[in-house]
Amino acid sequence: MVLVLGVIGAVLYRSLDWLQTPPAQLALSNEVPAAAATDTLPAPAAARPEQLKAIAAGDALFKGNCAQCHAVNDVVVGPALAGITKRRPLSWLVPWVKNSGKVVASGDEYAVKIFAQFQKQQMPSFQLSARQIEDIMAYIESEEGRATAVAGVVALRD
Ligand code: HEC
Repeated sequence: MVLVLGVIGAVLYRSLDWLQTPPAQLALSNEVPAAAATDTLPAPAAARPEQLKAIAAGDALFKGNCAQCHAVNDVVVGPALAGITKRRPLSWLVPWVKNSGKVVASGDEYAVKIFAQFQKQQMPSFQLSARQIEDIMAYIESEEGRATAVAGVVALRD
């Protein structure tokens, strides 16, 4: 019974997710005012072609560069990346992915802490553009929705 409620809850949550534009995705699309301003009707973020394109590009980039150490919803070699765009702004994420060692060396408090927490294992530097890194973040956000639905089931069961 509780499980059934949980599943219904998860499904409801998921459909809400598609209807609403999550704040983090809004933040991302704010970065492209030219394209956003021409949208007269507010389409759901996930249905917008440029958003789908960003997610698809980010999916491929994530699998090619990040997946050996990261998963969105699980700790692998590095931390689970779900919620990262809420924990850190793009202005931190872009330089971090390009060269995390430099961010740690700059004394950035968050970077020093996460580096220490993961046994001072340095992430490789990536020659990716800011746009490509934003696409990876869009992909991560698209995968977070699934995690939230599953977490909803677990929370209801507890
Ligand atoms: C060889 C393993 C490895 C690869 C490949 C890797 N990372 Fe990491 N990443 C780590 C580790 C380990 C940490 C924890 C911090 C540290 O030790 O520097 C981390 C931390 C992070 C963080 C901070 C997470 C948080 O919760 O604050 C982000 C964001 C991140 N990585 C993004 C990426 C992205 C995007 C890619 C692919 C372009 C990538 N990483 C590829 C190992 C890796």
